[in-house]
Amino acid sequence: MDPPAITEEAVSAAVDAALTAICVSETSADLKAVRAEHVGEFSPLARLNALMRTVPGDQKAVAGKLLGQAKGRVSAAFTARETAIGEAEATAQLAAETVDVTAAASAWKPGARHPISLLTERASDVFVAMGWEVAEGPELESEWFNFDGLNFDEDHPARAMQDTFFVEPTDAHLVLRTQTSPVQLRALLSRELPVYVVAPGRVFRTDELDATHTPVFHQIEGIAIDTGLTMAHLRGTLDHFVQALFGPEAKVRLRPNYFPFTEPSAELDVWHPTFKDGARWIEWGGCGMVHANVLRAAGIDPEVYSGFAFGVGVERALMFRNDVKDMHDMVEGDTRFSQQYGMTI
Ligand code: DAH
Repeated sequence: MDPPAITEEAVSAAVDAALTAICVSETSADLKAVRAEHVGEFSPLARLNALMRTVPGDQKAVAGKLLGQAKGRVSAAFTARETAIGEAEATAQLAAETVDVTAAASAWKPGARHPISLLTERASDVFVAMGWEVAEGPELESEWFNFDGLNFDEDHPARAMQDTFFVEPTDAHLVLRTQTSPVQLRALLSRELPVYVVAPGRVFRTDELDATHTPVFHQIEGIAIDTGLTMAHLRGTLDHFVQALFGPEAKVRLRPNYFPFTEPSAELDVWHPTFKDGARWIEWGGCGMVHANVLRAAGIDPEVYSGFAFGVGVERALMFRNDVKDMHDMVEGDTRFSQQYGMTI
């Protein structure tokens, strides 16, 4: 084989090969490979270029011009093809990534815990911090735990007063519990004395839903049975409770009242200077010294043990503590309501 020389034929062969390869490349990856093959270090054109050293001085200008023109043509062809492929690829990418801006946006929104749950937990924590236990009872409750064991007479008006949902069959004597007080008995029957228990939970009464009533609501019950407990312990516990929940200036007022399961019994009012509608007494629940008949129903000797109990409404607390004006907001499940409270209350 003749040693290669910078001849017109050799140069045009190299240029033609390069132009053909450039022409048929379809992607930028193809073009990159073509560039390496036809103008790279070991390409025919590079090899011809390397021969310039051996060209006699008087022929250098001619050979140089020949190679220069060749490189110019190939380079122009690369540039043109590169632009065309670049545009085609950009168009294809835009088509592939098309977003329909008229499509409906995702309706997903983060939820939030319900303020009733948050306030219930916060209230329970106040008692847990004092060493009390948290207890639960069933929402479908036996009439005995809800009424009889709590010293409600068979035909006591209080039984009707609480607008009870009686559950069929009637001879099963089941009710949707009207109060968390049955957990008092359950706690006493399932624990050794002394007992210090707080029982938050859902309760039911046949009320129509309106701004201040709902047939399903929440209470927090407390019961403490020990030796030597008095009304003073009840009072101190409630003072601490309301201050922890509503602020250091909160106060409790007890007004004589009647509940079958406590004697004496009292209405529990709470006061705070910064309640949203101004400083005032607000009726919040009931309390008293646990009735001897309730202790007996749980097999406890009332001559040895005594104790106190209380029950308060969670919805009601949310209304005066956080200025919720309408019960509908609490039951409708609109997350815009819950989200205002974040994760702590
Ligand atoms: N269970 C009563 C109610 O729902 C509230 C109550 C009053 C609870 C006095 C008590 C109590 O523990 O001692 O109306």
